Amino acid sequence: MNFSLTEEHIMIRDAARDFAQNELLPGVIERDNKQEFPDELVKKMGALGFLGIMVDPKYGGSGMDAISYVLIMEELSKIDASASVIVSVNNSLVCYGLEYYANQEQKDKYLTKLATGEFLGAFCLSEPEAGSDATSQQTTAIDKGDHYVLNGTKNWITSGGRADVYLVIAQTDRDKGHHGINAFIVDKGLEGFHVGPKEDKLGIRGSDTHTLQFNDVKVPKENRIGVDGFGFKFAMKTLSGGRIGIAAQALGIASGAYELALKYSKERKSFGTEICNHQAIAFKLADMYTEIEAARLLVMKAAWDKDQGNNYDMSSAMAKLYASKVAMEQTVEAVQIHGGNGFVKDYHVERLMRDAKITQIYEGTSEIQKIVISRGVING
Ligand code: CAA
Ligand code: FAD
Repeated sequence: MNFSLTEEHIMIRDAARDFAQNELLPGVIERDNKQEFPDELVKKMGALGFLGIMVDPKYGGSGMDAISYVLIMEELSKIDASASVIVSVNNSLVCYGLEYYANQEQKDKYLTKLATGEFLGAFCLSEPEAGSDATSQQTTAIDKGDHYVLNGTKNWITSGGRADVYLVIAQTDRDKGHHGINAFIVDKGLEGFHVGPKEDKLGIRGSDTHTLQFNDVKVPKENRIGVDGFGFKFAMKTLSGGRIGIAAQALGIASGAYELALKYSKERKSFGTEICNHQAIAFKLADMYTEIEAARLLVMKAAWDKDQGNNYDMSSAMAKLYASKVAMEQTVEAVQIHGGNGFVKDYHVERLMRDAKITQIYEGTSEIQKIVISRGVING
């Protein structure tokens, strides 16, 4: 067993750290206030290879492993979780889904553009009546010979306003239950495809989240991914990897807040000494460091399982469950260590606390992760 990072991993982590410090930190508070994330920054992340981290270089990707992906996600998330959710969705839901399950023509048409950042992708599973209960898809795709006709509503779609390519899950044959679900590649701008207004959110406010409406949208038959009826398994398999990305996002939010709290506790004085010298604060720092390190081990184990070709359904669910809990709890502690300053925007920890909450909700709530883990534990 070896817990060390390779020299290459350290270089990748440092490159992501530099980008986060130099490009993401300036303006992060303003972007959160204004609920925006400039296209220019998305392009910069594409140029650095952050939008196709694990994609084969023959499709324009960086060809890195899942450990590298986690390291990049952690560094970006320490500073700006709105940036890292764009990276996570594009990498582990859209690019992964296409690289592993799309046919050659689909990969040639879409994957290179998505991996290089020329295109941005969105993943559309959730619906107003089908969130956790994802098999209850109400969106329909009716087979009309050479095309499908798509009707329905998807909500909460990350990058919903700015994406170029949407992977849309829909019911093609209700009688077959989840075996009658398919996944489709849907291009932006098709007739009948409408993007709703941006959601006004608690956290990750820079990330654009939208409801999408499909009214008789004609999707070419060749845009279906995999064999007929593969759509639900496609979503589940893809989400297992996505959960590693969100677990790494939670880890980054927690470690970012910890680093700020540690620094502040060494500078701020009360009762004639730096507050880190009060045992109540020192013990908070000890707990934070321990919890974050435990989360990091679970996140790295899930990434390692993926790199080794092991099944990672359970390890990704455990990593997401635990890291998101740590993110929520430890960002609250970081605010506490900052006292009144923690309650205002200039010190960043209040934003990290708000951003932490979403990691317990999207890509499967904590309750859903417990369903996945408990089934694994009981059924082996
Ligand atoms: N890999 C392959 N197949 C899988 C699978 C996996 N990991 N998990 C389930 N399946 C298969 C099952 O084997 C079953 O197929 P068979 O009948 O052929 O065996 C089928 O899928 C249905 O599985 P279940 O009976 O387990 O289905 P369920 O109704 O009990 O639901 C669930 C399972 C795990 C709760 C699932 O519905 C789920 O994950 N829900 C949460 C949805 C979610 O995570 N949404 C995230 C949206 S994307 C997002 O959020 C992005 C973002 O924010 C940035
Ligand atoms: P519900 O399913 O209604 O759950 C409500 C509560 O009940 C939760 O606490 C849940 O854990 C609990 N619950 C439900 N069923 C059970 C059960 N069987 N046992 C125990 N507890 C249960 N989706 C996408 O497809 N693509 C995206 O890009 C995307 N991005 C998102 C971005 C944001 C900012 C947000 C807020 C959501 C995003 N989502 C996306 C949707 C997200 O995945 C769902 O919100 C999530 O899966 C939960 O679904 P729901 O909101 O319908 O909650």
